Amino acid sequence: MAVRDDVLQILSERETAVSGEEMAQMLSVSRAAVWKAINSLRGEGYNISAATNRGYQLCESNVLSARMIAAHMRSISERRLPEPPAGDGEPPHFVHGAHGVPGVHGEEDSRLQVLGSVDSTNEELKRQAALGGVEAGAVVLADEQTAGKGRLGRGFHSPGSLGLYMSYLMKPRCDLSRALLITAGAAVACARAVRSVTGKPAAVKWVNDIYMKSAADEYRKAGGILTEAVTNFESGHIDSVIIGIGINCTGVEDDLPEDIRGRAISLASSTGKNVDRNRLAAEIIKELDEITALDYDDEPVRRTLIDEYKKYSVVTGRDVLIHKNAYGGAGPGLDDGGDPLPGIAARVLDITADGGLHVAYPDGAEEIFTTGEITLRI
Ligand code: BTN
Repeated sequence: MAVRDDVLQILSERETAVSGEEMAQMLSVSRAAVWKAINSLRGEGYNISAATNRGYQLCESNVLSARMIAAHMRSISERRLPEPPAGDGEPPHFVHGAHGVPGVHGEEDSRLQVLGSVDSTNEELKRQAALGGVEAGAVVLADEQTAGKGRLGRGFHSPGSLGLYMSYLMKPRCDLSRALLITAGAAVACARAVRSVTGKPAAVKWVNDIYMKSAADEYRKAGGILTEAVTNFESGHIDSVIIGIGINCTGVEDDLPEDIRGRAISLASSTGKNVDRNRLAAEIIKELDEITALDYDDEPVRRTLIDEYKKYSVVTGRDVLIHKNAYGGAGPGLDDGGDPLPGIAARVLDITADGGLHVAYPDGAEEIFTTGEITLRI
């Protein structure tokens, strides 16, 4: 790795300042080389403070950067490395880099593509997958999307600097009947990552909306997931799945389009803390690496995943409106004019082992949904 990358790595791992001399010693380079690397990083937009007698410290920076994401990913891998077994100790339960996903020091950067602006990261990754040459675990991120896509044919508001917009390529080993579980798994990955970065719990609204609490203690949507399948042109089979994730990171009510004001929130508004998009991206990618490597055909694996999903779920036991064919419309439960779509009143009984929504109607009839949309009734 270049000195610049090494310096970035050290700074991203330290929560306190580190002197130029210490870094020079650690890297066996001159102090001038460290200073040059610091200047080059500053030139790229990294916010690095310097204090006499203390050294350099990486402050939060809002520049989305593949190198910074990779540095965070390496720190996460090191944090999670299992203790070496003592004698006949337990084998490590977590295998990094499983399933052909690069997870070894120094390899992460090559799987990450950070773009300034793109129509949609899902579309971009789909285009690349169609041409071949992108591996499982490839990630496309963009500072802004000009035509961000939401579920059910909706758009996803994706202004520059304010959100995290990323798409992850998965090569599923399981039957596509497990698609709902893949989506539920992605929601679990996001909920874990948001909690790790903000210190606050994230909630999930079936099937894959990420919710956070507002100052008024009401749940609001902070992000969503759009999972799309890519068909191999020659074989006609689905050979990859694109997991697209959009999360409102910073930004206040006024930054939101009018039709979603009062229903959406950013992580920063919800938690009162600034959110480092690079760190959030790294946490999500590491969680997705783990979750997409699971064997979804294995019943205990599915049960463990759904049990965790249920812990984040805000819908169980709640009265909801079900929109069976919620295609189109301006937002969840709203039509193009912003009026509520007709929905069927029901109470959620449970999330099934396959990620379906088990509901009961007022007349006592029950049904399990695997598609569609729900709105929570207050
Ligand atoms: C939803 O809430 O309906 C799903 C939103 C998914 C948005 C993400 S942003 C990154 C990726 N690219 C897209 O165009 N959409 C997904």
